[in-house]
Amino acid sequence: MLLRDFRTKFRESLSSIYDLQEVDSFFYLILNNFHQMSRVDLALKPDFEIDELEIQKWKNIINQLQLQKPIQYILGETEFYGLRFKVNSSVLIPRPETEELVDWILKNNSNKSKQLRILDIGTGSGCIPITLAKNLNNSEVSAVDISRDALKVAEVNAEINKVKVNFIEMDILKTTKLSETYDIIVSNPPYVRELEKQEMHKNVLEFEPHIALFVEDEDPLLFYLKITQLASKSLSEGGQLYFEINQYLGERMVQLLSDYKFRDIEIRKDIFGNDRMIFGRK
Ligand SMILES: C[S@@+](CC[C@H](N)C(=O)[O-])C[C@H]1O[C@@H](n2cnc3c(N)ncnc32)[C@H](O)[C@@H]1O
Repeated sequence: MLLRDFRTKFRESLSSIYDLQEVDSFFYLILNNFHQMSRVDLALKPDFEIDELEIQKWKNIINQLQLQKPIQYILGETEFYGLRFKVNSSVLIPRPETEELVDWILKNNSNKSKQLRILDIGTGSGCIPITLAKNLNNSEVSAVDISRDALKVAEVNAEINKVKVNFIEMDILKTTKLSETYDIIVSNPPYVRELEKQEMHKNVLEFEPHIALFVEDEDPLLFYLKITQLASKSLSEGGQLYFEINQYLGERMVQLLSDYKFRDIEIRKDIFGNDRMIFGRK
């Protein structure tokens, strides 16, 4: 069957659930994954055919997309800051907001000549420490997570991207002191309140790990308080603390960092105009 003709069936099967633009973006991601072809390649080969076995593979993906499983989990990979990352249901799918956070860290540290010791807390797929290690040559990077399964994925990602990251299994909420000092501590911890569940889509709620996402309504800054306390003791003088934050809790985060005597506090918005990340200097 011509792949061009199959695309019509693909669109029809998914158009009641997703808008056309999204359906097409799935189509080209699968095209790239299965056939190593881009949109342009297909345009240049309008008579490209797929056989019965390949049609079955495409149909299998359609079935999963109809259940609203995220395409990144179906294909088992995603892209973050131009790098390839394996993902599975043990790790959060890296988000564009987190790319912005990483970009902020990189811009603030691009011309540093001294070796930077960096710690990422709640590393998931390892997208933050791996991207930092890849782009900051002179760095020594560690990352922690409570989930052993997430750390397994992160280790594979460090190998794929050919960087060295020291991964450690750790429950940060039960940690009273970090064993080393760092120049940069970064975290994108769980920050979605139970009350915000209704704003979330089925593909997130049903497929992404809840341990990575949710905190109790009564104590939404639990992780931020703990990490700020640890960072205030374990950052070097002038050391940098970065968080991705809940868009509704920006002011409370500024207060928290100033309570712990952080300086030069700055909130930044994501591309949608929501308060999304914060920086403070020890
Ligand atoms: C929002 S996800 C962030 C994942 C990744 N850093 C990213 O930006 O895509 C939060 C991560 O924190 C981890 N986590 C949850 N509770 C934790 C705890 N008590 N100690 C350490 N890590 C924890 C989860 O397993 C999850 O990987």
